[in-house]
Amino acid sequence: MKQERFDKIISTQFNVSRRDARIAIRRGKATLNGKVLRDFGTLVDVDSEITFNGQALNYKQYIYILINKPKGVLSASSDKKKQTVVDLVPENLRRNGLSPVGRLDKDTTGFLIITDDGEFAHKAISPKYEVYKSYIVTLDGKLTDDMVKAFADGIVLADGTPCRKAELSILSENIARVKICEGKYHQIKRMFGVVGLGVNELKREAVGGLSLPEDLEEGACKELSMEEIQSIFTNC
Ligand code: URA
Repeated sequence: MKQERFDKIISTQFNVSRRDARIAIRRGKATLNGKVLRDFGTLVDVDSEITFNGQALNYKQYIYILINKPKGVLSASSDKKKQTVVDLVPENLRRNGLSPVGRLDKDTTGFLIITDDGEFAHKAISPKYEVYKSYIVTLDGKLTDDMVKAFADGIVLADGTPCRKAELSILSENIARVKICEGKYHQIKRMFGVVGLGVNELKREAVGGLSLPEDLEEGACKELSMEEIQSIFTNC
């Protein structure tokens, strides 16, 4: 069974600083298996019955939060001036070490996961694992079948960078669905630039087999279950 220091468990799971956790534990605010435990350095099985300020612990090693990113918010953990996606995480889901998994541009909306699980983040982003990201793109001009072919063959960006094969589906004259499994800087905008179109609106609707729920409003967050997290690695 996994063991961690008592102060670390209290700090990460109840979102308090390590210092505040120690002070509170010393003051008798935390219990282990029904008894007050004041020695904050004790190694404790993470599955034990633990309470803090009367609240029972449901231990989770990591947390996975899906946000429907609104426009104007940065895909970052913190920023001195601008609001970030992590600022939008509600208090009950907050933890130290939360970061967005990859980046959406400031004006891009939609599916973005925020987590403290770095290994998961790497797997979801790395082109090696071929997790497809699906976007709905509104363009400033007309889509053509030649563009569909160019995306399928693999676009070479203006600076000579080759992109992997991408799936472009025409949904209407100027709206498309694009699926890519890599995340180069401004990739979708630059890919359309190569075929002579500008991007007016960009929304990510899915990552792997997990889609943005229709009822998740812009700016709202939802904690994901392990099944939902696993479904990311089943490509659609
Ligand atoms: N491609 C872009 O150009 N912007 C994004 O935010 C995501 C993909």
